[in-house]
Amino acid sequence: MTSASEYTVINPATEEPVRTVPEASAEEADAAIARARAAQRAWREVAPGDRAALLRAFAAAVEAHAGELADLEVANSGHPVTAAAWEAGQVRDVLQYYAAAPERLCGRQIPVAGGLDVTFAEPIGVVGLIVPWNFPMPILSWGMAPALAAGNAVVAKPAEMTPLTALRIAEIAAEAGLPEGVLQVLPGKGSVVGQRLVDHPDVGKIVFTGSTEVGQQIMAGCARHIKRLTLELGGKSANIVFADADLEKAAATAPYAVFDNAGQDCCARSRILVQRRAFDRFMELFEPAVKGVRVGDPRSERTEMGPLISAAHRAHVQSYVPDGAPVAFRGSAPSGPGYWFPPTVLAPVSFDAPAYREEIFGPVVTVTPFEDEAEAIEIANDTPYGLSGSIWTRDVGRAIRVARAVETGNLSVNSHSSVRYWTPFGGFKKSGLGRELGPDALDAFTETKNVFISTQD
Ligand code: TAP
Repeated sequence: MTSASEYTVINPATEEPVRTVPEASAEEADAAIARARAAQRAWREVAPGDRAALLRAFAAAVEAHAGELADLEVANSGHPVTAAAWEAGQVRDVLQYYAAAPERLCGRQIPVAGGLDVTFAEPIGVVGLIVPWNFPMPILSWGMAPALAAGNAVVAKPAEMTPLTALRIAEIAAEAGLPEGVLQVLPGKGSVVGQRLVDHPDVGKIVFTGSTEVGQQIMAGCARHIKRLTLELGGKSANIVFADADLEKAAATAPYAVFDNAGQDCCARSRILVQRRAFDRFMELFEPAVKGVRVGDPRSERTEMGPLISAAHRAHVQSYVPDGAPVAFRGSAPSGPGYWFPPTVLAPVSFDAPAYREEIFGPVVTVTPFEDEAEAIEIANDTPYGLSGSIWTRDVGRAIRVARAVETGNLSVNSHSSVRYWTPFGGFKKSGLGRELGPDALDAFTETKNVFISTQD
């Protein structure tokens, strides 16, 4: 069967071609789904201890290839090498965490009259993973590991621009002994391969991470089949700094809460809200912190921020900083080849400015003053999104009140915690549907079956 087309992966730090990858056609997607369906029938029968051992072997193989995977991500996505190494480690850790699941997928025994009532956590079947370009390795692993642990087969579609690590991870899985067809990675276009996963009746569940717009289309597509669905979508999260906070620490860490991964992070705290009486002091401290972010060659261990993913994406980010935009200050970025964009701070910004309201997905942050706790909560919630956020205060009661009031799925107090694979992750409002990671993720990859066994003569 021939591929529909090819895609040339470009290194975003150099603009040079890295490799050409064949893209799967809709027919190839159908064939992969058929292989997955057949493989899943055997995979679900693999004894829990054996399935766990295979996942542990897969995790160990990822660890053995972590350096190679990190280098691939540096070349494909422009992630700083230290970040890419963390991302490869995340794949290992998520696999290891869910490797403990097959032997613990317990059902329940529920008291009933006249018999025995038990529940089983049955695998769904074939799970389609649709992965974005911003964190190709971690986001693949968040769906892949629990889906496999629960006895499903996985067909994953990486983003067209960033297929290299996912393809290598599938090879590593095969080398580690995962049965053929249980994990397949199909590079290709979302409109072709992704759409086929959504439309195909033999795919029982979709895990989609990406933009809210595409997520809405996918939800509508899944509705036709009542297909199970997890959505991780966009964000416009607030970093709320009260005047009583450790302002030095809040200002020193704020750049990394939004400029990590060049701002191409759904959890980016891209709206900083600062209590008015601390505003000037915060900005004084924030300016050197922003200018101190080390932007440059992602292969260097000193680099903290790399380029944007593509020329088109850089033009999109640039559109939020037109001539005359209220730039308070900016960091630096290399000139020459590469899709570079300097860390950029906008203030003051009106509440209806696109830079304030829309997800930019680049290294641009707005800073807005607020008067009191009530106004901070109101401003923080004035967005269709609700994915993450941070609260800086020394007042424990206030930290808890505000954390309960902000409509968002993942908050950190006096820190900017990133995703921890053993805690739940997901969004309120238009940031998503369902939760990934943590102890309950298996629920999203299983169906509860209730069986009553009569004890009557
Ligand atoms: P999207 O354009 O939505 O793409 C995400 C994935 O969906 C890609 O693999 C894409 O394929 C595929 N896709 C596109 N159209 C499709 C269709 N009609 N049917 C099925 N699949 C389709 O997002 P992006 O530009 O890659 O990522 C940026 C967005 O993702 C941001 O809004 C960001 O907030 C969000 N995001 C959210 C999270 C979480 S955890 N909530 C994490 C990362 C990113 P191709 O691009 O290869 O064609």
